[in-house]
Amino acid sequence: MAIRVVHSEYLKEIDKARRDLRALISSKNCAPIMLRLAWHDAGTYDVNTKTGGPNGSIRNEEEYTHGSNNGLKIAIDFCEDIKVKHPKITYADLYQLAGVVAVEVTGGPTIDFVPGRKDSKISPKEGRLPNATKGVPHLRDIFYRMGLSDKDIVALSGGHTLGRAHPERSGFDGPWTKEPLKFDNSFFVELLKGESEGLLKLSTDKALLEDPEFHRYVELYAKDEDAFFRDYAVSHKKLSELGFTPG
Ligand code: HEM
Repeated sequence: MAIRVVHSEYLKEIDKARRDLRALISSKNCAPIMLRLAWHDAGTYDVNTKTGGPNGSIRNEEEYTHGSNNGLKIAIDFCEDIKVKHPKITYADLYQLAGVVAVEVTGGPTIDFVPGRKDSKISPKEGRLPNATKGVPHLRDIFYRMGLSDKDIVALSGGHTLGRAHPERSGFDGPWTKEPLKFDNSFFVELLKGESEGLLKLSTDKALLEDPEFHRYVELYAKDEDAFFRDYAVSHKKLSELGFTPG
């Protein structure tokens, strides 16, 4: 009984934090960087050693100062405003909730959110996140290490429907789509069109066209937004729960 009471209190707190996140993300137009924060906290997972993953460790200075996390302190600080209001919620849950809400408020699919992640103070060594200058084998090395599949790689790359690259953060510049605050399938539509003035294509984005297994999902998602939304919601949930068994 006592455990159930604690659990239902926690769920209520999650619900309140979800509302606060919706308001914060809409007023600051910060959906893209919140999604990137959730992904970079989760994307360090190693399925073999069961280390890394969505455990809030990106809040440690040691980790947010990794080169691939440049700029994410902004999102960590936004989340801190919510944490102060809802101190019982773990950072791990808060960052993943922020990612789910970011997709939702920009018009993307609803992603099932199960709370209960624990925080870790242990940060993985630098180098577990993908390097944007590389190609197909690298993408597979990184995402298979997380325990994810080819379909997950393509669906999740669709996260680049939101936001842009900043020269002072990554050295790259520009958005992937014409409406970077709208979550839709335009990342895949633009990818198939080829180079276009003002829009960015990373080497890892273009790799999705080179491999036949990846390419067939790009084609599917470009022509069928419902299929993209369905698969994205499943892959995002998997990413947000790497190494986590809901209790
Ligand atoms: C931004 C690389 C996968 C979501 C970026 C940036 C780079 C990058 C270089 C620019 C950062 C900046 O300058 O601010 C990669 C690579 C990936 C990958 C190499 C390998 C597949 C993903 C995934 C997601 C994601 C799986 C989410 C599901 C985002 C978002 C932004 C972003 C939303 C925009 C952030 C903003 O506007 O501040 N990514 N990414 N990325 N990435 Fe990725």
